[in-house]
Amino acid sequence: MKVLLVCLGNICRSPTAEGVFRRALERAGWQDRVVVDSCGVGRWHLGNAPDPRAQAAAEQRGIDISGLRARQLQAQDFTEFDYVLGMDRDNLSAMLAMKPAHANAHVGLFLDFADLAESEVPDPYYGGDEGFERVFNLLEAAAEGLVAHIQRGKQ
Ligand code: 4NP
Repeated sequence: MKVLLVCLGNICRSPTAEGVFRRALERAGWQDRVVVDSCGVGRWHLGNAPDPRAQAAAEQRGIDISGLRARQLQAQDFTEFDYVLGMDRDNLSAMLAMKPAHANAHVGLFLDFADLAESEVPDPYYGGDEGFERVFNLLEAAAEGLVAHIQRGKQ
C-alpha cells in the first residue's frame, strides 16, 4: 500500500501530513505495510526542507520532519501510489488534471478520512503560528481515519 500526500508547496501541509500519518501508522504497528510520501503541485520550493514553522509545530509533538525535501507531483505518481490525497480543492483540481486516464489510484482529499465538518486543510503559509497548530489537529484526525480505513480494507 502506498500513500502520497499532496499540497501546493510541499513545505507546510503535506510534509507535516507525512510525518503525522507515519506516526499514526507506527502507533498501529503498520509502518512496514504502508509507504508514505508527500509532494507539491507547484515547483517554487523544490529541494527545500519544510517551512521552519511546520518543523517547529511537528517537533513540539515529537515528530521530526526536518529531513524531508520538497518535490513536485508527476504523472507517474498516479500509477505508483494507491492513494493520492490533496489538502484542499485547488490541489485536487490540479491533481485530477494531471492524472493519466489509465491510472487507477484513489484520488481525493485527505480530510475525507477524518470525521470532521471541514474538508480542506487551510494553507498556513501566509498566516501565524496558530495556523500551523490548526493544521496539525486536522491532519491528526485524517491520519487516524486513514489508518483505520486501510486496516479495515486489509482485514
Ligand atoms: P503548502 O504551503 O502548500 O502547505 O506547502 C505553501 C507553501 C508555499 C506557497 C504556498 C503554500 N507558496 O506560494 O510559495
